[in-house]
Amino acid sequence: MGKTLLGISASPRKLGNCELFIKDIFRRMGGGWELRMVRLPELDIKPCRACYQCLFDQMKCPQEDDFLPVLNALAEADAYVVVAPVYLLSANSSLKGFMDRGLQFYAFVDRLWGKPGVAVAIAGIDGMEGSGKRDVESFVKLTMGDLRGSAVVYGALPGESLLSLANGEIAERLARAILDPDMRLKPAGPVCPVCGGDTFRFLPDGRARCMLCSSSGPWQWENGSLTFHMAPGDHPLFLSRADVNRHAEWLRGMKERFLERRQELKAVVKPYLGMGTFLESQKSKV
Ligand SMILES: Cc1cc2nc3c(=O)[nH]c(=O)nc-3n(C[C@H](O)[C@H](O)[C@H](O)COP(=O)(O)O)c2cc1C
Repeated sequence: MGKTLLGISASPRKLGNCELFIKDIFRRMGGGWELRMVRLPELDIKPCRACYQCLFDQMKCPQEDDFLPVLNALAEADAYVVVAPVYLLSANSSLKGFMDRGLQFYAFVDRLWGKPGVAVAIAGIDGMEGSGKRDVESFVKLTMGDLRGSAVVYGALPGESLLSLANGEIAERLARAILDPDMRLKPAGPVCPVCGGDTFRFLPDGRARCMLCSSSGPWQWENGSLTFHMAPGDHPLFLSRADVNRHAEWLRGMKERFLERRQELKAVVKPYLGMGTFLESQKSKV
């Protein structure tokens, strides 16, 4: 039986740039692979209710919707491509909506860890990708994949991304990276030495934080280029399998910590009870 590539598109547009780019990567992978597709905006993925049930009683998320079928498809796939359109300077909300349910990933560590994945953000205007590239990279990292490469691709009109030779080259390199870990793509500029990310926030004390893995450390100019010297922080989420398990345990410990401080928290919250009027959904009125 052939291997399965799961293509996850965060665009609502059928045969839009996201869907086409996934198919272009798949086409370049050669034979022996089957393509399974997910169009996130089309699915019913409800918001996380912050009840933490999924951490305590495996997969007992109270939301009944399409989240689990997508997660199962991801777990079953041999590799995956996630492509999101940039909307207002970040990956569109269907991607984040899926990610928000991600505490459930902890029940799938064995089936997700180390799966080859590549990530693409599609922007309509050159240079207007905002946090899109980091957002799609984060999807692969937090779903515990082996991020083999990522890119920003430009194309506004549906299909426009296929017209550029440069984009074709990106698709080709990403296809090869999925097939061969030695062909993984490396960002052209300075990277985080911990995770390979290339999106940073500069902190006031001569340090910087990697927006992908959250490690921080000093930065400096060395031989005419910027170099980062990050070290993993206290809460690495995905750098190793042990980190994943440690973070899940830490999250489970929140229940005890909440119970211990419940009275204190109740007292501090009380004065705010009933303050303000909330806008009601007009939908529920009809
Ligand atoms: C609501 C909306 C907001 C957008 N915001 C941006 C943006 O901030 N930056 C950008 O480069 N392109 C932006 N675009 C353009 C899309 O990213 C672009 O058309 C992309 O190709 C869409 O992918 P699709 O064809 O798969 O739907 C926006 C498009 C829409 C519909």
